[in-house]
Amino acid sequence: MTILDISKISKRFGGLQAVDQISFSVAEGEVVGLIGPNGSGKSTTLSLIMGVVRPDTGSIKFQGHEIAGHATHAIAKRGMAMVFQHSRPLHRQTVLENIKLALLPDTIFQLFTGRQIEEQARNAARRVGLEDVLDQRPDSLPFADLRRLELAKALAADPAILLLDEPFAGLAPSETREFSELIVSMRDAGQAIVLVDHNVKAVSGLVDRIVAMDAGQKIAEGTPEQVTSDEKVREVYFGKSLDTVEKTRERKHRVGEHRLLDVNIESVHYGRAEALRNIQLHVEEGEFVSVVGLNGSGKTTLFNSLLGFVAYQGDIQWDGQSLRGKKPADIATGGIALCPETRELFTHMSVLENLELGGHALDNADRRAQVDRIFELFPRLRERAKQSAFTLSGGEQQMLTIGRALMQKPRLLLLDEPTLGLAPLVIENISDALDKLQQDSGLTVLLAEQNLTFAVQHSNRIYLIETGSLQWNGAADRFSEEVGADIL
Ligand SMILES: Nc1ncnc2c1ncn2[C@@H]1O[C@H](COP(=O)(O)OP(=O)(O)OP(=O)(O)O)[C@@H](O)[C@H]1O
Ligand SMILES: [Mg+2]
Repeated sequence: MTILDISKISKRFGGLQAVDQISFSVAEGEVVGLIGPNGSGKSTTLSLIMGVVRPDTGSIKFQGHEIAGHATHAIAKRGMAMVFQHSRPLHRQTVLENIKLALLPDTIFQLFTGRQIEEQARNAARRVGLEDVLDQRPDSLPFADLRRLELAKALAADPAILLLDEPFAGLAPSETREFSELIVSMRDAGQAIVLVDHNVKAVSGLVDRIVAMDAGQKIAEGTPEQVTSDEKVREVYFGKSLDTVEKTRERKHRVGEHRLLDVNIESVHYGRAEALRNIQLHVEEGEFVSVVGLNGSGKTTLFNSLLGFVAYQGDIQWDGQSLRGKKPADIATGGIALCPETRELFTHMSVLENLELGGHALDNADRRAQVDRIFELFPRLRERAKQSAFTLSGGEQQMLTIGRALMQKPRLLLLDEPTLGLAPLVIENISDALDKLQQDSGLTVLLAEQNLTFAVQHSNRIYLIETGSLQWNGAADRFSEEVGADIL
């Protein structure tokens, strides 16, 4: 039985055909994957189905009823829910209140009575494993729990079909496995699912069928095996990475003998909680060093200490000088640039304005040249130069975050989960670009990652961090052997 039947839907934004005559259907209890390069129109397609964005043309039949162009609350009421690419909880409300509010899609039509709402919300929380944090506020939750909260909000109304936009992004492999099990249990309970994610391995293991998109159009459809081996899909989406993903990249850059960074943190506290303890870590000029660990293990706190955003006991030496007590702005001018996990883009400014702000300390000619280099690195950003950062796709925002950090022409680049939300081909391009920057300008990189494949492939050395302290460090090629490839 077909539950969702999409026929030739299209959406244009200004001069851009974001979705171009897309058709596919979903059967009851079926899981359909939607894959494609960054900016290919996947999130827009989900938004069209959910009524968040109005299609220009085309038909969307949900359980036999035409819903194209209908309001989101009306579509939700019919039994559809969506988990968006970015978590946006209400931070003044508790976890339970957030889930309850999701059961009130509008003020006119109330779906359930008060007692029902309470029960439905608690049930949804239990299903995703949030029952112990119901009274906490979202900003105190670890990243994976925030994604759980989004899932609980969507599940609460017991939808017949669920649209999931990148549920695995930013999750460690162990968390991805937990989320996959959750999706399987939803499918087993009879829910149909449309799943968008760049973790193709996870997607392939879950879905019955995959639809592949490129530049707004459908380019392939079939079983995971058929679609992932399709030539066009490989060309626009995977690049070479299907073959090379397990191989270590050749490290061509030379590492100097100059110690650029010397970290000796005794501890970092947030209130009474200890976030970091005895972190001894160093980076030589030209090196590529990774800190790997789960969400909440302390990677971002470490970066925030380096940049002077949080107070620490101990000392950090940069180029032979102590950074203790220095202001974040002075540390940045000194040559350290951060590419934050949370992106922190100026969303109301254009792509170009964001880049120019990143390079505000450069003189005009230098700034223009650097913008050009970034555009060479990410041709997509050149095409989108005038678009406001707010309307960029998830992957395009990530490209802009990396580009803006590079605009500072840093000596040390701090990358916090740069692969989050990026298509395999783009990750490969970034790998190549980092290699080139290291060779040409001796760039030094400190990476925080959960994506072990990416970290092991690029690093000279690796530090493993667990609940705030270092557990292992050594050469990257010893990591798999001594620590194991599926530690996270
Ligand atoms: N409101 C908007 N105005 C202008 N352009 C937009 C708007 N929304 C999306 N776009 C553009 O439409 C294209 C498709 O975006 P979409 O978010 O659907 O991509 P996606 O396939 O989900 O990509 P990703 O994998 O990076 O999340 C992108 O190039 C994006 O910049
Ligand atoms: Mg998207």
